[in-house]
Amino acid sequence: MYQTLLTTLSGNTFIITINRPDKLNALNTTVMTELNIALDEVYQNVQIRSAVITGAGTKSFVAGADISEFLGLSKAEGMALAKKGQDIFFRIENCSKPIVAAVNGFALGGGCELAMACHFRLCSDNARFGQPEVNLGLIPGYGGTQRLTQLIGKGKAMEMMMSGSMINAQEALQLGLVNYVTNPEELIGRTKEVLQGIESKAPIAVGKVIECVNVAVVSDSSFNNGKNGFEKEQIAFGECFGTEDMKEGTAAFIEKRSPRFQGK
Ligand code: COA
Repeated sequence: MYQTLLTTLSGNTFIITINRPDKLNALNTTVMTELNIALDEVYQNVQIRSAVITGAGTKSFVAGADISEFLGLSKAEGMALAKKGQDIFFRIENCSKPIVAAVNGFALGGGCELAMACHFRLCSDNARFGQPEVNLGLIPGYGGTQRLTQLIGKGKAMEMMMSGSMINAQEALQLGLVNYVTNPEELIGRTKEVLQGIESKAPIAVGKVIECVNVAVVSDSSFNNGKNGFEKEQIAFGECFGTEDMKEGTAAFIEKRSPRFQGK
């Protein structure tokens, strides 16, 4: 049914596996479209009480948005890309059924942002988290500037996004980015166990917990034109697409070389 996802219903838990292991499960347009369709299933299918998002293979959860699709995009197209990604991730965040990320390796860029849009996260001990967009002359565009700051605090979020460096599973646990660390073999089993506990509770009450917690953390602080932080991020992400540095950074990744940034 899907080209880039595997889905299974295990009891009442729906497992969505992003399945492009040869590209470390990078989020291309097809993955995003199909993820949105899988979310329709989660929203509509009464048999589904909770969902897990994970990645295929042993190396990566999701290594980011697919960089090859960034080449040649204009500022407006960059901004539209961010809006589309943010809208899909808001559907995860605002779903009344628990959606949890089981992070089984690299969770970078859009992958870290996908995990952060989930209600909470578990990871395997080989997981690595990061927002490496600055290496490409870019910034996070799928909500990362907002959610990482909310989850781990301003100082550490600033450092991670400015340096592009990765943190390991234990650091993610210490920072509260993940709730549990397991070995890779036990990750899905442990995630299902946590979700089964939640599935035994009153679904309407669980949905209201999600609604209320989201009100506590969603960014509504105004900036210049009364736009919230997520809209600010879309605009800033789009603006990066107008820079020489972004063209150089993405070309360098594709050509497997180090970028030469010039600040223009
Ligand atoms: N977009 C597109 N392709 C990606 C990708 C991404 N975000 N991340 C990995 N891939 C592809 C690689 O191009 C490579 O494809 P190829 O075999 O056709 O050349 C394949 O996945 C395997 O990745 P590779 O880089 O060879 O693996 P590695 O073990 O040497 O490095 C990473 C792993 C995660 C460190 C590295 O792939 C990486 O830095 N990825 C990009 C992370 C990133 O910047 N994400 C944010 C995007 S906005």
